[in-house]
Amino acid sequence: MMQDYCTVVTGAASGIGYAVASKLLAAGESIVAADLNEERLAEKFGGNANAVVIACDLTTEDGVKCLFEGIKSRFSGVRGFVHAAGFDEMAPLGMIAPDAMQRLFAIHAIFPVQFLGWMAKKQNRAPDAAAVLISSLAAHEGAKGHVAYAAAKGAVEGFLKSAAAELVEKGVRLNAVVLGVVETEMSQGWIGKLSKDQRMALEKGYPLGLGRPSDVAEVVKFLLSPAARWVTGQAIVCDGGHELT
Ligand SMILES: NC(=O)c1ccc[n+]([C@@H]2O[C@H](COP(=O)([O-])OP(=O)(O)OC[C@H]3O[C@@H](n4cnc5c(N)ncnc54)[C@H](O)[C@@H]3O)[C@@H](O)[C@H]2O)c1
Repeated sequence: MMQDYCTVVTGAASGIGYAVASKLLAAGESIVAADLNEERLAEKFGGNANAVVIACDLTTEDGVKCLFEGIKSRFSGVRGFVHAAGFDEMAPLGMIAPDAMQRLFAIHAIFPVQFLGWMAKKQNRAPDAAAVLISSLAAHEGAKGHVAYAAAKGAVEGFLKSAAAELVEKGVRLNAVVLGVVETEMSQGWIGKLSKDQRMALEKGYPLGLGRPSDVAEVVKFLLSPAARWVTGQAIVCDGGHELT
């Protein structure tokens, strides 16, 4: 029987996820575009024969089940997985609600662990599958108001190598990209509030400029591809030279 595999891109309705999904579609790949935002999914992928859209909340059990069922109803399994769904909930120490912290862990750390566990099973994937997670420099350097988000992204980098060690035995590669500031709706939430001087100071810290979603999509596409067949368990920093400043 002919096997029909897809790449699952979460957060596909916006920013980095949308850039990744678009790049894969342009290369003729079949994707599952998953996101909370049903309207935007329809707007961006409606009518594209190579894109199956699944609207789901990946912080809930029902949402995750809906994603797994949606994939299996249409494809033999997964060849690629890119987890770009996410959000930040900024709050200073003392104002971080436990449920807000739980939501951040649910989307950034718990869901991808669940998905990778599902993907590890032979019947759910291609023999040469690969996955890419998205971390943030917030887990590496201090940023006021980002304690809970930094903790959740730190968890991603924390489990990366252990998960990759289990997956490599099954022929599945797992890597992460660790991003500096990329101009998307998510970052616009706080960049938009900066004064002119603060914006200039931010840009000064990025010798190659702030990131564009397409900059990230290029790296993700490479990590998913056979060209990266010898790369696994790595957290690759993409930050426009920020760490050098
Ligand atoms: N933009 C940056 O500067 C930056 C920097 C470092 C890391 N990141 C990470 O990159 C990833 C993508 O962020 P972005 O900047 O493209 O953000 P974005 O806001 O443009 O896109 C995120 C998408 O995730 C979806 N989403 C949110 N919660 C969801 C849920 N519970 N279930 C399903 N979908 C959900 C949203 O609907 C949205 O379409 C995130 O993990 C983010 O933490 C972004």
